[in-house]
Amino acid sequence: MRRKFLAGTILAILVLGAVAYAMREPEPSFNSGDTAKGKELYDVYCAACHGLEGKGKPTGSALNTPEYLKNTSDEQIWNATAYGIPGTTMGPALKGQGGVKQLSEREISHIVAYLRSLQK
Ligand code: HEC
Repeated sequence: MRRKFLAGTILAILVLGAVAYAMREPEPSFNSGDTAKGKELYDVYCAACHGLEGKGKPTGSALNTPEYLKNTSDEQIWNATAYGIPGTTMGPALKGQGGVKQLSEREISHIVAYLRSLQK
């Protein structure tokens, strides 16, 4: 009797765990965005410093070079965009991070997809 109860409890915990796992927040997908939307956002929020098509300017490093894109993961680009680089003029773009851009996670993924599309 006791054994059955224990087995039932364990089963319930496993089922609840599986349900909670299935319902969890989706992982932010760093570049699953839309390239065309990313370009629009980039041109508005980033090109002033980083140049059109990520070519770079004195105010912001080039983001379209093969070296940069080859050695940088989508997650790193996403994080730099979202949270900025403290101590530099590269401010945070993610909503709630105190920056001026206040973009959504999805919008940042669009930008990452766009930058990734510049990789040759
Ligand atoms: C006010 C100018 C400015 C704006 C606007 C700006 N950046 Fe930057 N960004 C910089 C500077 C300067 C750096 C280099 C910081 C450093 O010294 O490491 C940088 C660094 C970065 C990096 C890291 C590059 C590396 O070498 O690791 C990424 C990625 C980046 N910016 C993406 C963006 C995106 C995407 C936007 C638009 C949402 C944006 N930036 C808007 C100035 C800017």
